[in-house]
Amino acid sequence: MGMSRVVVLRVHLVAASLALLLVLGFQIATLTGDPAVVKRGIVLALVVLVPALAATGATGMRLAGSSRAPFVVRKRRRMIAIAAIGVLVLVPCAVTLDRFVAAGYLGGWFHAVQYVELIAGLVNVVLLGLNFRDGVAVTRRRKKWN
Ligand code: HEM
Repeated sequence: MGMSRVVVLRVHLVAASLALLLVLGFQIATLTGDPAVVKRGIVLALVVLVPALAATGATGMRLAGSSRAPFVVRKRRRMIAIAAIGVLVLVPCAVTLDRFVAAGYLGGWFHAVQYVELIAGLVNVVLLGLNFRDGVAVTRRRKKWN
């Protein structure tokens, strides 16, 4: 019945890796790229990032089941923070910055919003990285025992 655990784990790994690489890529592109290209690119890439994060969360919950293991509690808490920061800060920042660039505005508010986006993005990279590390560590331990 349903997808096997191995398949769910594989989908979880692919979706989690994609989400981490995209958020990291946004940071590097923001710091090094041409705003005219980067701001539109980020808004377009959100169409991939948001489903990747949703799939990561859904498969993670599925893998965790009713487990109350400390790593599951930590990962769920971080996932909620990642989603909240994403929806409440990163998506509005990305859309606002894209509109600023489209209007040819690169002034003070552009830089202020970009600064907020970089800080929130950094927090999300760290939280995604911690969840990635916890996931790999637990999966590795399980494989050693089985
Ligand atoms: C926030 C983004 C997340 C990232 C980056 C992430 C990353 C990972 C990675 C890399 C693995 C190991 C996969 C492998 O080596 O094949 C893993 C496994 C796992 N993750 Fe996540 N994960 C995330 C969210 C979650 C959430 C929200 C939960 C549930 C609360 C969760 C629960 C699990 C479980 C139960 C495993 C399997 C551990 C085992 O083998 O028993 N993950 N995760």
